[in-house]
Amino acid sequence: MGREEANGSRRVRRPEPTGKEIKLSKKRIIVSKTDMKGIILYANDYFSEVCGYSEVELIGQPHNIVRHPDMPKAVFYLLWQTIQRGKNITAVVKNLAKSGDHYWVITDFEIQQDSMGNIYQYTAYRRAVPRQILETIEPLYAKMLEIEKVHGMKASVEYLNSYLAEREMTYNEYIDELAQPKGIAALLFEQMKKMFR
Ligand SMILES: Cc1cc2nc3c(=O)[nH]c(=O)nc-3n(C[C@H](O)[C@H](O)[C@H](O)COP(=O)(O)O)c2cc1C
Repeated sequence: MGREEANGSRRVRRPEPTGKEIKLSKKRIIVSKTDMKGIILYANDYFSEVCGYSEVELIGQPHNIVRHPDMPKAVFYLLWQTIQRGKNITAVVKNLAKSGDHYWVITDFEIQQDSMGNIYQYTAYRRAVPRQILETIEPLYAKMLEIEKVHGMKASVEYLNSYLAEREMTYNEYIDELAQPKGIAALLFEQMKKMFR
């Protein structure tokens, strides 16, 4: 999506994936804030701890610094299309740490608006993904990636749209049904998010 160029001079070389998963705490959330181009403005301590880049290394970098090559482009296309239209979205994302290890997160992407209603910033709140969700998401993303490699991103967006249409859901509704925290977990997540607003 070309967001790398904005800060090309400080671009970090992406590590080789090791295939090893980082286990996340159920009690902590990973928070980052970006400008309108996806350049990191803020990273909380847990983000640094998990991804292995210091806060200083993260700030000023495009958010694709933690992009994992297993992630289909279509998911990020959908993400940007949604937030640029002023809507929030929840997505399941596999991220790459500095060590090459990875971690899966359910991410709430939220827009920040000024008093005039203009979007000036985006915030992402991430929590651990329950194992059973990955049983559905991993094969779906693997299929999308395969389609992208052969037919390009548009074909993978179309595949995702057909997959969702079959289930009569939008991506947000699909992820909500799979992953939205319920009961006490939902309350705790909202409380944790409030601390970063
Ligand atoms: C607030 C916010 C948080 C983001 N967090 C992540 C993230 O954790 N991992 C990721 O791969 N992309 C994240 N992105 C998307 C990246 O900006 C980028 O679109 C994505 O990594 C794909 O990179 P590419 O366009 O260079 O392929 C985030 C974007 C925003 C606006």
